[in-house]
Amino acid sequence: MSSLLILNGPNLNLLGTRQPEVYGRTTLADIQTLCEAEASLYGMTIAFAQSNHEGQMIDLIHAARGTHAGIVLNAGAYTHTSVALMDAISSVAVPLVEVHLSNIHAREAFRHKSFIAPVALGQICGFGATGYALAIQALATHLGLQRGNADG
Ligand code: DQA
Repeated sequence: MSSLLILNGPNLNLLGTRQPEVYGRTTLADIQTLCEAEASLYGMTIAFAQSNHEGQMIDLIHAARGTHAGIVLNAGAYTHTSVALMDAISSVAVPLVEVHLSNIHAREAFRHKSFIAPVALGQICGFGATGYALAIQALATHLGLQRGNADG
């Protein structure tokens, strides 16, 4: 059974109480539950992680090679700054979908730039927690997996 790494960056541990007018009331634990349910429809498991530290995120991306079939990454503010994360993604060559809860293109100009986008299969933003499910669907399709039904 293949697995996905769902990796969340800085400040996303505060979801639910952090700027709810921007990010909603959904917690990171809610997103983990949603991801587990979505992945299971494709016969996949997930490893769900969050870190406020760029180096730790890089270590997790390195460890994904040979362990996970794909990565869903919400790099938070590191999206807009981190050449190191971009290089880590290029180095491991594990298919990755970039996710943001908010529509980064409708916000401040500094959020329009993503260092992740050029090394991602694609970017999903602006759909809140649903974006994580869409990212899992996109990765599963990329991996050639079929979506099951309630009867298995
Ligand atoms: C975010 C968007 C980023 O610009 C911001 O720094 C975050 C969250 C999002 O999910 O909308 O921390 O990645």
